[in-house]
Amino acid sequence: MAQNFHSSPICKLLLLLILQCGLPTTTIAQAPAPAPSGPTNITKILEKAGQFTTLMRLFKLTQVGDQINTQLNNSNQGMTVFAPTDNAFSALKTGTLNSLSDQQKVQLLQFHVLPQYLTTTQFQTISNPLRTQAGDSASDKFPLNITSSGSQVNVTTGVMDTTVSNTLYTDGSLAVYQVDKVLLPMGMFGPQSPAPAPAPGKKKKSGADDDTPATDDSTAGADASDAIQFVGHVHGLMVGSVGVIVFIVFTCL
Ligand SMILES: *[C@@H]1O[C@H](CO)[C@@H](O)[C@H](O)[C@H]1NC(C)=O
Ligand SMILES: *[C@@H]1O[C@H](CO)[C@@H](O)[C@H](O)[C@H]1NC(C)=O
Ligand SMILES: *[C@@H]1O[C@H](CO)[C@@H](O)[C@H](O)[C@H]1NC(C)=O
Ligand SMILES: *[C@@H]1O[C@H](CO)[C@@H](O)[C@H](O)[C@H]1NC(C)=O
Repeated sequence: MAQNFHSSPICKLLLLLILQCGLPTTTIAQAPAPAPSGPTNITKILEKAGQFTTLMRLFKLTQVGDQINTQLNNSNQGMTVFAPTDNAFSALKTGTLNSLSDQQKVQLLQFHVLPQYLTTTQFQTISNPLRTQAGDSASDKFPLNITSSGSQVNVTTGVMDTTVSNTLYTDGSLAVYQVDKVLLPMGMFGPQSPAPAPAPGKKKKSGADDDTPATDDSTAGADASDAIQFVGHVHGLMVGSVGVIVFIVFTCL
């Protein structure tokens, strides 16, 4: 019996599980994703469109993606999202994203989201400045102006201008428009606003820049409290089942 168990795949599986539990960082990276939140999923839309890896990562990091999904489910105003491409993010001055505090990152992302569904036709008659999810649209805070005639849609923040280059998605309640520049709000990048100071104690020397799509290191920080709780659970579980684990390790090795 012990002989059979020793060589069985189940034994290997259990060993593997134990090894996983012994490495909390691995476990944290696999912390369960939030439950599905309604039928519309901004991440899925961006994933399908391609070219929006950085935006998807930032939506996740700041949880603005979840906010959009939740709000879409719970309001009938709809929403409009301006989606900067990966190229738009990499065109930012090096370190721009890293220099923002967590709250500023949230505001930057919220600045790309309007709490109403707007068609390109409506852009022609909309009154400026528009209110975004970032809030205060005063001229020194988060104003967003959109003007349009014909098929051209101009977007200006007072710091930069761009145009809507593509309609990625519209369903009558969510509109997603591609922009080829990141929309920089006056309140964070305007002449009067001090350059966003790096958050104290967060300086990284690794050369891993937030601007590159591949790095995902700061995600763990955002979920730190959840992670700690989770480690606590894992720890308790391990202490509780230490007898079983010792048995399996001894039998399988
Ligand atoms: C949204 O879609 C992404 C990509 O397909 C998926 O990973 C994520 O779990 C989805 N989120 C919800 C809340 O359904
Ligand atoms: C979506 O809306 C339905 C109906 O109003 C509600 O029951 C559900 O909890 C909502 N889901 C989320 C994730 O907000
Ligand atoms: C959009 O911007 C272009 C270039 O700056 C300008 O020529 C055009 O008149 C603008 N259109 C509207 C509707 O603001
Ligand atoms: C935005 O529109 C408002 C109202 O028309 C105007 O006062 C303001 O100067 C505009 N800002 C920019 C940057 O175009």
